[in-house]
Amino acid sequence: MAVFKVSFLGLVVMMALFSASTLSLAHPAGFNFGWGSGWGSEPSRGHSGYAPAGGSFGLFPQFYQFSCPQANDIVISVLQQAIAREPRVAASLLRLHFHDCFVQGCDASVLLDDSTTIASEKRSGPNRNSLRGFEVIDEIKAKLEEACPQTVSCADILALAARGSIVLSGGPNWDLPLGRRDSRTASLSGSNSNIPAPNSTLSTLLTFFKRQGLDEVDLVALSGGHTIGVARCVTFKQRLYNQKGNNQPDETLERSYYFGLKSVCPRSGGDNNISPLDFASPAKFDNAYFKLILFGKGLLTSDQVLLTGNGNGNGNGNAGKTMELVKTYADDESLFFQQFAKSMVKMGNIRPLTGSKGEVRNNCRRLN
Ligand code: HEM
Ligand SMILES: *[C@@H]1O[C@H](CO)[C@@H](O)[C@H](O)[C@H]1NC(C)=O
Repeated sequence: MAVFKVSFLGLVVMMALFSASTLSLAHPAGFNFGWGSGWGSEPSRGHSGYAPAGGSFGLFPQFYQFSCPQANDIVISVLQQAIAREPRVAASLLRLHFHDCFVQGCDASVLLDDSTTIASEKRSGPNRNSLRGFEVIDEIKAKLEEACPQTVSCADILALAARGSIVLSGGPNWDLPLGRRDSRTASLSGSNSNIPAPNSTLSTLLTFFKRQGLDEVDLVALSGGHTIGVARCVTFKQRLYNQKGNNQPDETLERSYYFGLKSVCPRSGGDNNISPLDFASPAKFDNAYFKLILFGKGLLTSDQVLLTGNGNGNGNGNAGKTMELVKTYADDESLFFQQFAKSMVKMGNIRPLTGSKGEVRNNCRRLN
């Protein structure tokens, strides 16, 4: 994996590589997603699709062990091809799972297109012109319907695709609880009100995460998802030109990084120009995101405030805990990986539909 110089030139080179899709990815030697790892040692559980009492939210890793044992292999093979074509796909799929789970739980509501009964979440402020990866989900779903008709839910596909994307980008692997079912509703208003904005203060971020049952450890670890992928100029422009309504840049932005960003993101226009969230290694899942934050090189306000509190650089935010966590993860990648995996399981457990609730969609874009 090439190490890119922390400079404006690096930023430009990086972006050129990104758009040319020529970044090579570190592929771990083998994939074992823990299928059956608990087999024989786990308490016995039914495979009828009904959650046993006392299970963690009714989800469990062996859910498809009998009904579709090859489910994860199919997901991985589609991902390998899609990510080889365009490394950014991994980031886009991770984000899809996040935006699914924060709006009426992890129920694939985010995948529903507009119809007579559905106001699609794809039109919300945070999602419009921004969410991507839907075609890859369609391709996975089509292959799964061929192999195991009407069995694997779209909500589980999103969770499997997020985990697979992280593994294929060099990140951690973990046992993934499964058994989510798909919603028969979507919430455009929920999508507008539950996904935090990129210019959020630390206390706003915490409020949004706590609403989902997630704490400050989850907030910092999951924000580490920004170690891959990109953001549009419009999502960080405020920091460059008018952070606090005084026509001044965000003083927590490191200077050379600030100048580089300005050339990508002019004061007017260029809203769809993109910049890597972790310009040191935008296609590699690692802890560089946290190292960059320590240098004042977090791209979004929501990234930098994990260190600085309220983003005004005077350190008076109550950022003690998140600041320590940023330093810890910058120092120790394996600790970050462990916590990221735990927090992903926690996020994936947000209000799933289980048992006979919801349905298993035939096509992720519409109701059966
Ligand atoms: C803490 C609050 C968060 C905020 C305010 C936030 C905001 C954003 C924004 C504004 C973008 C760029 C969107 C665009 O330019 O169209 C982005 C991209 C991204 N976000 Fe977040 N995010 C947050 C948390 C998360 C979490 C929890 C994850 C996953 C665990 C995540 C994963 C990603 C990824 C992977 C991308 C890049 C997507 C791509 O390149 O297609 N984010 N985020
Ligand atoms: C964040 O951006 C929105 C939309 O541009 C704006 O209305 C809001 O005041 C900003 N919030 C902060 C804390 O700067």
